[in-house]
Amino acid sequence: MDRQQISRLAHAHHPIAAPLDDDSVRRLLAHAVPGDGARVLDLGCGGAEWLLRALTGHPRLTAEGVDVSASALDHARGAAARLGVADRLTLHHEDAARFAAPHGFDLVLCVGSTHAFGGLPATLAAAREHLAPGGRVLVGDGFWEREPSPEAVESLGDLDDLPTTLDRVVADGWTPVGGHISTRRELDDYEWAWTGALAAWALDHPADPDRAQALETAIAHRDGWRRGYRDCLGFLCLALRPTDT
Ligand SMILES: C[S@@+](CC[C@H](N)C(=O)[O-])C[C@H]1O[C@@H](n2cnc3c(N)ncnc32)[C@H](O)[C@@H]1O
Repeated sequence: MDRQQISRLAHAHHPIAAPLDDDSVRRLLAHAVPGDGARVLDLGCGGAEWLLRALTGHPRLTAEGVDVSASALDHARGAAARLGVADRLTLHHEDAARFAAPHGFDLVLCVGSTHAFGGLPATLAAAREHLAPGGRVLVGDGFWEREPSPEAVESLGDLDDLPTTLDRVVADGWTPVGGHISTRRELDDYEWAWTGALAAWALDHPADPDRAQALETAIAHRDGWRRGYRDCLGFLCLALRPTDT
């Protein structure tokens, strides 16, 4: 079982592949989608859950998603067909950092996928290149709520604290026009959903050759969360507009 399959199973019972509940996703989209008829891009879209919600809520909106996971994109394709929005969704199986489009977008999303660009500043620089005039960005990334342990830094990389994250975004020429800081409940629910879905799949498939790996991965992830980063990791979503247009 490769990382993409593990990720798909682990995200089976959570609204999106990031620590936000349904209501937070709904409120952020309501804030970020510039209106019906908008063109939306999601870099690192996974199963395209953000785009599917935007498409079902806005009958004239068109959307494009980019991801390196073929299984996540297959899942997105199936869901789009079931929801009757497949004709307005284009999916690109490629590296988001190399994606180029012949037109700009009114909204560029990148939630939980900033590692595809090497971090938040590089993600925002890439998103800016895709923006149509008047466009905005919805980005979601981790930050240190408290001083991280060496184990947390090793598994999650070199993040900033919240004030520093915001200062850097503003210094980079962006103005936050909305946002959301994941609650402790959203953060915990996400980790329980991740580890629980994978462990449950292993228990439901006793004869599957991937069972042991799925169970070990769930246990290792739960340990890494509980012992390594539960007390120091936060997650921030920002709706941003370029300060100078
Ligand atoms: C944590 S998931 C977030 C998915 C989605 N944005 C969401 O909020 O539900 C991260 C996604 O980034 C994708 N990804 C990782 N590296 C990538 C890259 N270089 N280009 C495109 N997608 C990438 C993964 O395949 C995965 O689907």
